[in-house]
Amino acid sequence: MTSEFLKYQAQTTPHPLALEISHANGSFIYDTNNKAYLDFVAGVSASPLGHNHPRVIRAIKQQLDKYMHVMVYGEYIQKPAVELTKLLAKNLPKPLEKTYLTNSGTEAIEGALKLAKRATGRSEIIAANKAYHGNTMGSMSVMGFEERKQAFRPLLPDVRFINFNSIKDLEKITTQTACVILETIQGGAGFIEPANNYLAKVRKKCNDVGALLILDEIQPGIGRTGKLFGFENYNCIPDILVTGKALGGGMPIGAFTASTNLMDLLMDNPKLGHITTFGGHPVIAASALATLKEITESELIPQTLEKEKLFRKLLVHSLIKDVRGKGLMLAIILDSAKITNQLILKSQNKGLILFWLLFEEKAVRITPPLTISEEDIIKGCSIIIDVLNEIQQA
Ligand SMILES: Cc1ncc(COP(=O)(O)O)c(C=O)c1O
Repeated sequence: MTSEFLKYQAQTTPHPLALEISHANGSFIYDTNNKAYLDFVAGVSASPLGHNHPRVIRAIKQQLDKYMHVMVYGEYIQKPAVELTKLLAKNLPKPLEKTYLTNSGTEAIEGALKLAKRATGRSEIIAANKAYHGNTMGSMSVMGFEERKQAFRPLLPDVRFINFNSIKDLEKITTQTACVILETIQGGAGFIEPANNYLAKVRKKCNDVGALLILDEIQPGIGRTGKLFGFENYNCIPDILVTGKALGGGMPIGAFTASTNLMDLLMDNPKLGHITTFGGHPVIAASALATLKEITESELIPQTLEKEKLFRKLLVHSLIKDVRGKGLMLAIILDSAKITNQLILKSQNKGLILFWLLFEEKAVRITPPLTISEEDIIKGCSIIIDVLNEIQQA
């Protein structure tokens, strides 16, 4: 099917990995030759319970038997969406209470940016260099990587960039600023954590000038960093929280959450301030609800920190310069893009799935399902060390 894949399905790179998938289960994906691949990527952090988790599958099937799409977002009362937003509120600190469900992360970012403009009446948006927030026009405008966006200009006006973790740059946040948008942990940049109470300092500056703080938790969110939400590690509560990826439990979703006062602004002046046909889809909401219940009712969240320790103990090699990140959001830092490519491709041949980060060419992503066993962590890390030995000896 490779030639049809390349001929009919639009590609994003000239060299896709092109693994032909037969099925997937737990921490393993199987190709059409029935070769098993241990999954250290989890669909780029979007399959937190691994593949085909029974609780998620059951919830989806039960909802399928009742109803699928019946009406555009927000008009009818559909239990899965109501229960999902209620459970999010229960697990979030005040004043984060009301959630708007979207179809993807980038759409949730668009909604959050619109809400910040509507709430403040200001237009300036401050984002971070090397930030990634999605690929639609608004999200791309706040992407801090010129090379990937110059072909699509003009983008949103009034966007300014600061360096993540620079206290000096906080001066750029002023009474002109509608919002500051940051990833809680910078993903594409190489899994860069906020340092020296940075997010709390951004929070304070935003309060001082009346700007809103948007935190993008699309990657670190939903249990991956030892807390349900990444921001809980860093002494800072955003005005608008954006989630996605893992929230759907393998189904497409995005969400933005804010206080009731803020969120209700989208209802009027203008009315229908943000609308979508499929956001809050009952089957997807059922999958998300089952996923969120499983993650919050089990020991998976504290276990991420134990599993991180195991990864750090095993990922020791002279070609590994650093292991960055937190919990099960880890990146191996190597010496060159060449070694990164070799490690990812050779590991795939040996049955281990690894992946790149968007902007940091020396990084290899390790974001396995939260459910991965210690035995499989040991197995996957030994493949990585074997491949690094081969690269070193070549
Ligand atoms: C931090 C971050 N924000 C936003 C997005 C966009 O989400 P989606 O691809 O669902 O539109 C991503 C996706 O990789 C992301 O990592």
